[in-house]
Amino acid sequence: MSKRDTLVCLRAARPLISAGVLSADLMHLDRQIASVRDAGIQLLHFDLMDGQFCPMLTFGPPMVKAVRTDLLKDVHLMVRDPLERLPEVVRAGADLVVVNVETTVHIHRALQMLGDMENANDPERGLLRGVALNPGTPLGVLEPLMDDLDVIFLLAVNPGWGGQGFIPSVRGKLSRLVGLVRDAGREILVGIDGGIVQENVAEVAALGPDLIVAGSAVFRGDDPGAHARRLSEAARAAAGVNP
Ligand code: DX5
Ligand code: ZN
Repeated sequence: MSKRDTLVCLRAARPLISAGVLSADLMHLDRQIASVRDAGIQLLHFDLMDGQFCPMLTFGPPMVKAVRTDLLKDVHLMVRDPLERLPEVVRAGADLVVVNVETTVHIHRALQMLGDMENANDPERGLLRGVALNPGTPLGVLEPLMDDLDVIFLLAVNPGWGGQGFIPSVRGKLSRLVGLVRDAGREILVGIDGGIVQENVAEVAALGPDLIVAGSAVFRGDDPGAHARRLSEAARAAAGVNP
């Protein structure tokens, strides 16, 4: 399956929930992942935070590597000097690498570097390249990057912790981004990350994102699969996709 096929498959299955491992119970990670996989989840979201760009320290590439799964690994870099980390992240098995644009003045170079790398899980699958924008970063930053992007994520919280509230102004930004990508005829996936809960997932999904990250809303309690399924169903119904 080529990178284009991967993108086509993901788009055909939209909107997809990417389950945020940051909020999972690490003592029972294998069970928790099996539970969301059984619920039809196709992507796992790994938040790499370094205690520098982000106040919090989470985990790094060894954690991405340690998770043995056939789900796609969506790896979100919120670290200073991400260029130095890219080879390690890709070797660890990332299928989608998302770099926060504010982490480096060389975001274009980061995308170029990723464009020269192969997916370590399966070179045929291709390595998807993405950027994420903080709530305070305008969409204009994307314009020179569009030719080198497969995915654009908007953060609906300031990076740092799981379980924060969705920042309302990001709704308008998400609508504008969805329109911009569609009007440009680009095959870029649009994602939203942060603050998604059962109460707002339908409203957000109706704005048109392809990917929806949900961490604490999935990995709370002892049945993450049930939460993932409910979020997915609400998102698909709001997006006008049959369950
Ligand atoms: C923001 C991270 C998000 C976030 C998701 O710092 O990039 O992925 O933790 O967690 P929830 O869904 O709990 O907001
Ligand atoms: Zn994230």
